[in-house]
Amino acid sequence: MATVLVTGGAGYIGSHTCVTLLEAGYEVAVLDSLANSSAAAIDAVAEIAGRRPRLDVADCRDEAAVEKVMAEVRPDAVLHFAGLKSVPESVADPLGYYRHNVGSTAVLLAVMESCGVRRIVFSSSATVYGLPDTLPVPETAPTRPANPYGSTKLVIEQMVADVVRADPRWSAALLRYFNPVGAHPSGLIGEDPEGVPGNLMPYLLQVAVGRRANLPLYGTDYPTPDGTALRDYIHVMDLAEGHLVALENLESSAGQVHTYNLGTGRAASVREVIAAMREATGHSLPYEELERRAGDVPELWADPTKARSELGWSASRTLAEMCRDAWAWQSAHPQGYRS
Ligand code: NAD
Ligand code: UD1
Repeated sequence: MATVLVTGGAGYIGSHTCVTLLEAGYEVAVLDSLANSSAAAIDAVAEIAGRRPRLDVADCRDEAAVEKVMAEVRPDAVLHFAGLKSVPESVADPLGYYRHNVGSTAVLLAVMESCGVRRIVFSSSATVYGLPDTLPVPETAPTRPANPYGSTKLVIEQMVADVVRADPRWSAALLRYFNPVGAHPSGLIGEDPEGVPGNLMPYLLQVAVGRRANLPLYGTDYPTPDGTALRDYIHVMDLAEGHLVALENLESSAGQVHTYNLGTGRAASVREVIAAMREATGHSLPYEELERRAGDVPELWADPTKARSELGWSASRTLAEMCRDAWAWQSAHPQGYRS
């Protein structure tokens, strides 16, 4: 049975991926600082999967701590989710974001090399494309991130690619997520943002449970059919399954770096998401129409053909399922893991 180390495994996407990995038979060890998550997520993962992952509370920037965990766990591969992900925070503190995201990954890669662990799956983002020239966006599209967060993702992609190029015993999958939403259908794990949610779906869920009065709807004058921005929302369990197949593919990928878009290839507008969420929750979900949010692109959705043809993976869950499962989580945990 293969063993994997999951950095950031207590977080939103990491915890869902842990469930998928455990159910696929992997031994799973989580390394997480719990800076943006709770150990309760690991309890819930254990409850769903019937097996408990090991949890080490440590920071990826702490070389000695990472070394200790790596030496004890001796993983066959690392899935690297750990990092900071707020666009506005990264604009306010770019150096902090480079030090954290790029710095921690440099430490992690160095420790992997010294321990002979040379397979990595990295959480990148569609944000590396910035404002796209054509839609849907293929992996070959130009990369020009519009904010420091996106730049850290691109720098890490390049760093990983350089490491693989220097030593063909390495292999890597760089996964560019579009807009991950939803939750495990059990409602036991889900997204639990600190403070005011910056993203659409968690904000709507907090309106639905009564934590916030109405959604600020940013931009109603985009050149789109209903005037609101279009995005490629993907169910987090589809995303988790994408990690599993990308990981398995690394076994036969020595010396290679694979870059994949993980999206559905379908676009939904903000108004469509609100309507789907109303249907799922039975709440009216009032909103206030505001100016566009700085830095938002009008439309962004994936060309997911490469992952389908090379990995046999495609996202199957609908927007209605994303809303239903997100609501199962939020309605059972109105205050997130503190509920
Ligand atoms: P999250 O904040 O829920 O999870 C990240 C986890 O990493 C948290 O548990 C946090 O405590 C941990 N962490 C952060 N810095 C750490 C460090 N230095 N050492 C150890 N642990 C650390 O975020 P998420 O939404 O699950 O995102 C996971 C990854 O996917 C991130 O790298 C993010 O940039 C990327 N991503 C997320 C989205 C999205 O919409 N959620 C989209 C594209 C890419
Ligand atoms: C944002 C980040 C992106 C990151 C992604 C992770 C920005 C500019 N981009 O993408 O880098 O990878 O999150 O999930 O921050 N909206 C509202 N009201 C809200 C929140 C959002 O109307 O309260 C709108 C936005 O204007 C956008 C759409 O909903 O049109 C989706 O927003 P969001 O969920 O934040 O995702 P992205 O902007 O695509």
